[in-house]
Amino acid sequence: MAEILQKVIEENRQGEAYAPFAEDPNAYSKKFYIESYGCQMNFSDSEIVASILHEEGFGATRNIEDANLIFINTCSIREKAEQTVRNRLQAFKKMKDEQPGMLIGVLGCMAERLKAKFLEEEKLVDIVVGPDAYRSLPGLITEAEGGQKTVNVLLSREETYADISPVRLDSNGVTAFVSIMRGCNNMCTFCVVPFTRGRERSRDAVSIVAECQDLFNRGFREVTLLGQNVDSYYFTTADGTEITFDKLLEMVAQVSPLLRVRFSTSHPKDITDEVLHTMAKYENICEYIHLPVQSGNTRILQHMNRTYTREWYLAKVKRIREIMPDCGLSTDVISGFCSETEEEHQDTLSLMEIVRFDMAYMFSYSERPGTLAARRYEDDVAEDVKKRRLEEIINLQNGHSRESYKNDIGKTFKVLIEGDSKRSDMDWCGRNSQNKMMVFPKRDYQLQKGDYVNVKVNTATSATLIGEIVD
Ligand code: SAH
Ligand code: SF4
Ligand code: F3S
Repeated sequence: MAEILQKVIEENRQGEAYAPFAEDPNAYSKKFYIESYGCQMNFSDSEIVASILHEEGFGATRNIEDANLIFINTCSIREKAEQTVRNRLQAFKKMKDEQPGMLIGVLGCMAERLKAKFLEEEKLVDIVVGPDAYRSLPGLITEAEGGQKTVNVLLSREETYADISPVRLDSNGVTAFVSIMRGCNNMCTFCVVPFTRGRERSRDAVSIVAECQDLFNRGFREVTLLGQNVDSYYFTTADGTEITFDKLLEMVAQVSPLLRVRFSTSHPKDITDEVLHTMAKYENICEYIHLPVQSGNTRILQHMNRTYTREWYLAKVKRIREIMPDCGLSTDVISGFCSETEEEHQDTLSLMEIVRFDMAYMFSYSERPGTLAARRYEDDVAEDVKKRRLEEIINLQNGHSRESYKNDIGKTFKVLIEGDSKRSDMDWCGRNSQNKMMVFPKRDYQLQKGDYVNVKVNTATSATLIGEIVD
């Protein structure tokens, strides 16, 4: 393993692998604009798309009016996510009326879910491309330029875009996302992802490490390894070495002690002791785990096909805290899944009380056409009940977040400076290892983004720690 890594690092130092793009805005006569919705995978895919389009002579623009091509990278996870996209398409329609040559393309999960239906439903759309078909974009654009409406929504068992060096869009130059796998084999009954993203496949470990090394060489100081279920990462290299997620984490951590490593998302059934021990071993692997629970009730978890019980989840949390007492923990929760009773909802609240997450993403159940739950179960919890339960979950979590942040007052954390704080260019912002955002005055220190500093926390809100640099 160490040999592969060494080889990759050397190749990079010689500038052979992953030559970054020369980003000269004047080098491109045609311009594309891309807007992304949904999870980080989608934002990361947009950077792959940007790379493919660059090769075709399209430069990225942030100015929608300057674009010949408009792309919207879409999400299907909940009905509301799809509604947002439809609203945006309505806004694009007005622009297209004024600029007839403009082409509009729909990418991502909604493209995959609706396929050619999109062209019937939304007349203004010219190109529909699913997440595994971005390599065909140049051909599809050419056809669309000739007046043809085009669709490619083929899913693949192999595509990982391993050889494509993403063009970083809207980058702060310090933190970046690196996709390590695609698709999902889990079949949680509520979830549309297995249908929109296809079968799970892992990307070549050598190309992942090479991309991380290249990012480091270009000044980046944090990578987040992305996948729907990172713990089931599995790749066999050309020399027969088997690489599981803990090994991959180690390889990336060894790129440099100055490169922070994060990952998302972990599945409670798959996260192993090896991963936890690797996290504890390397100071630069951040002590933060996003561990979606979805529900605190075992019967509902079974209905969701999450394949763990309430007790299993609680045991996992205990294990994480045994190995890393200071590990940050966040989660996802769904309220009002099919047949959830009031008592079962109370189990979710009581699990949250026991664990006390630092942060959570909370949703009410939204039935997605074609999923196992839509086919098997009735969406029988009334909308107002779902909403009320969600509110209870949110209120409880808000208290826990406030408490978690308040408990950090007086502590000192190592922070990676990401840039100016949102509110003032007199302050820096950056995260601690536990993924909490910290804001602190720049003062007269000769620091820049990408530097590490120790920051002592003086005050806290429920989402930010405010402090000052200490030596
Ligand atoms: N792969 C990740 C989650 C991806 S989707 C995992 O397995 O944890 C992100 C979150 O959206 C999920 O964790 C879930 O909480 C939520 N979600 C997914 N489908 C949903 C639906 N139909 N209704 C409401 N929330 C949903
Ligand atoms: Fe969806 Fe479950 Fe896969 Fe996550 S693990 S993407 S929730 S099917
Ligand atoms: Fe949405 Fe697709 Fe991600 S459905 S959450 S963009 S995988």
